[in-house]
Amino acid sequence: MFDSEKRAVVVVGAQWGDEGKGKLVDILAERADWVVRYQGGANAGHTVHIGDMQVVLHQIPSGILREGVRCALGNGVVIDPDTLFTEIDELVADGIDVEGRLYVSDRAHLVLPHHKLLDAETCAGREIGTTGRGIGPAYEDKIARRGVRVLDLRHPDRLRMLVGRGVAFANMQLQHAGSSRRADLENTLAMLGRIAPRLLALADDVGLAIHRALAGGAAVLLEGAQGSLLDVDHGSYPFVTSSNTTSGGAAVGAGIAPMTIRGVLGVVKAYTTRVGNGPLPTELDEELSERLRRLGNEYGATTGRARRCGWFDAVVVRYAARVNGLTDLAVTKLDVLDTLDRLAICIGYEVDGDLHTEFPSDVASLEKAMPRYEWVDGWQRPTSDARTLAELPKPARAYLDRIEALVDAPISFVSVGTRRDQIIGLPD
Ligand code: GDP
Ligand code: IMO
Ligand code: MG
Repeated sequence: MFDSEKRAVVVVGAQWGDEGKGKLVDILAERADWVVRYQGGANAGHTVHIGDMQVVLHQIPSGILREGVRCALGNGVVIDPDTLFTEIDELVADGIDVEGRLYVSDRAHLVLPHHKLLDAETCAGREIGTTGRGIGPAYEDKIARRGVRVLDLRHPDRLRMLVGRGVAFANMQLQHAGSSRRADLENTLAMLGRIAPRLLALADDVGLAIHRALAGGAAVLLEGAQGSLLDVDHGSYPFVTSSNTTSGGAAVGAGIAPMTIRGVLGVVKAYTTRVGNGPLPTELDEELSERLRRLGNEYGATTGRARRCGWFDAVVVRYAARVNGLTDLAVTKLDVLDTLDRLAICIGYEVDGDLHTEFPSDVASLEKAMPRYEWVDGWQRPTSDARTLAELPKPARAYLDRIEALVDAPISFVSVGTRRDQIIGLPD
C-alpha cells in the first residue's frame, strides 16, 4: 500500500465492523513506521493471530505487534484509561515490548465510569445494542463541551471540577432514566489519581508527531475501528456508533491534514456480518446464519455476542467505496465460504416495488428493503492454502471478479485464513 507518494494510508471497515481490519493492519504494519487509531475506543475488538497466539486489541493499534513500529491513539479516540493499562499489561505479559513506542494524544477525551454506567442503564444503549463500553455517552460529553481530556490530568483542581460536573450530569440522567445506580466522584478521582502518572507519561501532541514523521518520509497507517455502516453520519443511523469511522474521520481524529492521505484500504468480509441491533438487509435464515457463524467463528471479539450473518451486499460496499474514496479493497474470510454450493450477492434493494441501487439514508427504507440477488456457483474446495489468485478455484475467482465489478474498487488483498501468511497480496 505504501510507495513514495503514498505515505499516509487509512484502513477502514467497509461493512458493519469486524471485517478483519486487525489482520490487515498487522500485515501492512510490517512496512509502516507508525500506526494510529483515530476514532472509537474500547468498543473495538481487533484480532491478530501470530503463530499459535491470538491477540485481541481494543484500544491499542494492531501495529503494536510489529517490533519497532510506533503506535498512537489520536485525539479522535475516546480513551478508557482503566482498561488501557490492563491491555498494555497483558501485551507485556505476552512478551510484547510496548515501552517507549505507545503515544496518546493529550487532546483525546476520557471514557469514565459514569459513561459506562449510562451506556448500561439507559434505553438508548439497549435499543442500539451497544458494546456497553461508554462510547456514546463519552462522545456526547465531548460534543456538549462537558468532556474530560487527557491533558486535564495535569491539573488536579480543574480535573475535580470537570469530573464533578460530568458525574453530576450523569447522575441526573440516571435518575431520569429510572435507574437506582449512581456514579461516584471520589471513586472516579481515586482511579484517575492512580492511572494519571502512567497515562501522562504517554501523553503527547500526536498530530504534531505524525506531521513531523510524514515530513521526514515515514509511512503512517491510520487504523479505523468499527465499519463505514456504523459511521454516525454515513451509517444506518440511529443504529450506528458515535464517531466518524470513515476515512474523513482519519484526518480529523489523527490531527493531520486530509491532503496527506493518499491511500484508503477498505476491508470487507466475503459475506456480511453485524453485531447489535439495526437492519441487515441480506441477513440469512437462522440455519444458514448458524452455519456461517460456526464456519467463520462469528462471535464478537469485544462482547462475545453471536454475530448476525448475511450474503455479501454490493450496495453497501459500493456505498462505502464512495464515501471513503477507497483506492483498494481487501476481501477477508473467503475460506469460510469454501463448503457452500452456491452464493448470493445483493445487487439492489426492492423498496415498495421500486429497485434501489444506492444505499438509502432513511433506516425505515432499509428495514423494508428486499434484497435483489445474483446467484453464483460455490467452489467446494479449500482455499486456505492459496497464496496467489491463480491458486484459487475458478468459481472463487469469478466471485471476487464480480464483487470487484459491482463495488467499483480494485481488490488488492484476499485473506484465506486467520494467520498472517494466509493472504493473497496482489501486485501493486
Ligand atoms: P476487526 O474488528 O475488523 O479487526 O475484525 P475482528 O477481529 O473483530 O473479526 C475478524 C475475525 O475474523 C477474527 O477472529 C480474525 O481472526 C478472523 N479472520 C480474519 N481474516 C480471516 C480469514 O481470512 N479467514 C478466517 N477464517 N478468519 C479470518
Ligand atoms: P470493530 O472495530 C462490530 C456496534 C455495536 C452496536 C453499535 C454501537 O471490532 O469492528 P457502541 O458501543 O459503539 O456505542 O455500539 O456499534 N459496534 C461494533 N460492531 N465491530 C465493532 O468494532 C463495533 N463497535 C461497535 O454492536 O451495534
Ligand atoms: Mg472487531
